[in-house]
Amino acid sequence: MSSDEHMDRNLALEAVRVTEAAALAASQFMGRGDDIAAEQAAIAAMRRTLNSLAIAGSVLIGEGSEDDAVSLPSGAAVGGGEGPAIDVAVDPLEGATVTALGGPNAISVLAMASKGGLMPVPDIYMEKIAVGPDLPAGIVSLDAPPADNLRALARVKGADIADLTVGMLDRPRHAGLVAAVREAGARVMLMQDGDVSGVVATAEPLSGVDIFMGVGGAPEGILAAAALRCVDGQMQARLAPRSNEELELAQSVGIADVDRIFTLDDMASGEVMFAATGVTTGSLLRGVRRFSDGAVTYSLVMRSQTGTVRRIEAHHRLQSQQGEIPEPAYHI
Ligand code: FBP
Repeated sequence: MSSDEHMDRNLALEAVRVTEAAALAASQFMGRGDDIAAEQAAIAAMRRTLNSLAIAGSVLIGEGSEDDAVSLPSGAAVGGGEGPAIDVAVDPLEGATVTALGGPNAISVLAMASKGGLMPVPDIYMEKIAVGPDLPAGIVSLDAPPADNLRALARVKGADIADLTVGMLDRPRHAGLVAAVREAGARVMLMQDGDVSGVVATAEPLSGVDIFMGVGGAPEGILAAAALRCVDGQMQARLAPRSNEELELAQSVGIADVDRIFTLDDMASGEVMFAATGVTTGSLLRGVRRFSDGAVTYSLVMRSQTGTVRRIEAHHRLQSQQGEIPEPAYHI
């Protein structure tokens, strides 16, 4: 890649404007019982702001299909068309259901990488294990029993297993995993939704999540891998197709061996940027606070080239008569 094809470092701050806009839009529907409206508002705002970026972007992991009234589908071209060719992965609203219920852990999230830097995956399940940075390589393994992984992690952290907390989606399919973790002596943090934030929380010392385990969406796995890649965390993943149709979906994106364990480098490589803004408060980020004259958002932005992690508290002024907060005019 020539130097003028590099992702400008300012793009990371532009990326956060995109997730802020999506989170602000979704937050208007927080607790209103309408997950579809929340999702559509987030998608529309994300698409609009993505198109204002100076990139020749192509959506590798998107939301919805061209047939939907509002979507940001895989394959869509985004950005102004000038600038570097970039792969984009989005989840405008991770946790639409929890947003509608006013529950925790909903975020708007975006990852960008130099062309070819993000692994294409079908929208099926994926088995994941992830830990944060500053740990010896290969400290946990998807194929090892939970007790072995926890013992290894406790040893290198100089902690007791009882001090470790395992983040996991709260799903019946995880009953055996929950039992094994508790049997090993560790604690479990069950999350109603949101395994991007769950995985990324392992890289945040104060999140209370030491390791993330379990099965969630494969697209969410790539988004989370992009974040961990920026900070040198560790993650392993394996697709978990539940039918022949899902197997074919995996093959259709070029994954012939569905038993293969993917590493962070397989899932996110080259120059990577990650941005997320909280919609509702969770283990990773605080949610949008709305006031009569504006709103406050809390975001995280990361770049792989430097490993810099920025936490951005943005104060947005209300700019329209309709009570909408369309374009973030913020102060960092
Ligand atoms: P969306 O709100 O984007 O659909 O995702 C919520 C989520 O909890 C993801 O974080 C997770 O990867 C996936 O759903 C798990 O799927 P399921 O609800 O089928 O277990």
